[in-house]
Amino acid sequence: MDERIITPSSLPNEDIFDVTLRPRYFKDYIGQLKAKENLKIFVQAAVQRHEALDHVLFYGPPGLGKTTLAHILANELGVNLRMTSGPAIERAGDLAALLTNLGPYDVFFIDEIHRLNRNIEEVLYSAMEDFALDIVVGKGPSARSIRIDLQPFTLIGATTRFGFLSPPLRDRFGVISRMEYYTAEELKEIVLRSASILEVEIDLEGALEIARRARGTPRIANRLLKRVRDFAQVEGTGIITLKLADYALEMLEVDDKGFDRIDRMYLRSAIDNFGGGPVGVETLAASIQEETETLEDVIEPYLMQIGFVQRTPRGRVVTQAAYDFLGISREDKKEENQQTKLISE
Ligand code: ADE
Repeated sequence: MDERIITPSSLPNEDIFDVTLRPRYFKDYIGQLKAKENLKIFVQAAVQRHEALDHVLFYGPPGLGKTTLAHILANELGVNLRMTSGPAIERAGDLAALLTNLGPYDVFFIDEIHRLNRNIEEVLYSAMEDFALDIVVGKGPSARSIRIDLQPFTLIGATTRFGFLSPPLRDRFGVISRMEYYTAEELKEIVLRSASILEVEIDLEGALEIARRARGTPRIANRLLKRVRDFAQVEGTGIITLKLADYALEMLEVDDKGFDRIDRMYLRSAIDNFGGGPVGVETLAASIQEETETLEDVIEPYLMQIGFVQRTPRGRVVTQAAYDFLGISREDKKEENQQTKLISE
């Protein structure tokens, strides 16, 4: 899974690359217009009032800029950003150490916040609400609770799984923002911006071609740009044109919709093995030897976004648009399936 060039998750060593390309202020951030416009207002208001920005939750598929926005918020507020992730915090003491080290109005970013242990989560409640920690010291009859005051801070949580957050945690965020897939035009702007930072020559059609095949995801667009640049350098003239991008992307097995092997396996299995659905996600995951969570968080959101898959109460259903894209006729398939059934009977 991690070897996929179009995986929206971060790859090893990609962080350094991300840092050079990552926009640092709102003015350089392309897309997510609704979230961005609102956040700009909230930041300005918090700065004017000399208060911490209210706690912010970003949710949505990986690679859409949740971490980038956290960095931008800290930069715009002019404060430090401290980063951690849900699974990295193993004990309540770890969280207490992080929180007591925050400076006034700092941003505290917890990635994958849905994976925070429930006991630890409870420590967060008073920290978020009262900027204080209630810690129990001692055991048995001599146990008592002490309160440690914290600096006012902003918690930014990021998750791919909104539904996995407990309601008490969810309720403590003042701003909840859903990250949307980017349009091809927005991704084109991102590719052009990145190419200019990387000092790669690229024309508009070349940029749009990479954008179109990036599954609505900036992280994928930037990764494809890097790989296409290699082809331009070694096999081309160094300039990324439509022709060069098309050739390189074909070599990388990224098809016209930006699908790779796993997306195709998903659709193929749903059609070939389950008549296009409805089929349960666990059944489908087992049939292509992937984890259900990967399907739900990474593969399906995009397939649903472009209208290739629908989620119904009885399971997943592949749409006509997907059949058309794969060049499969629903009628022929039905006949074929019936014949297979007759043979096996
Ligand atoms: N690089 C990654 N995401 C970006 C975005 N949303 N805007 C500009 N550059 C980006």
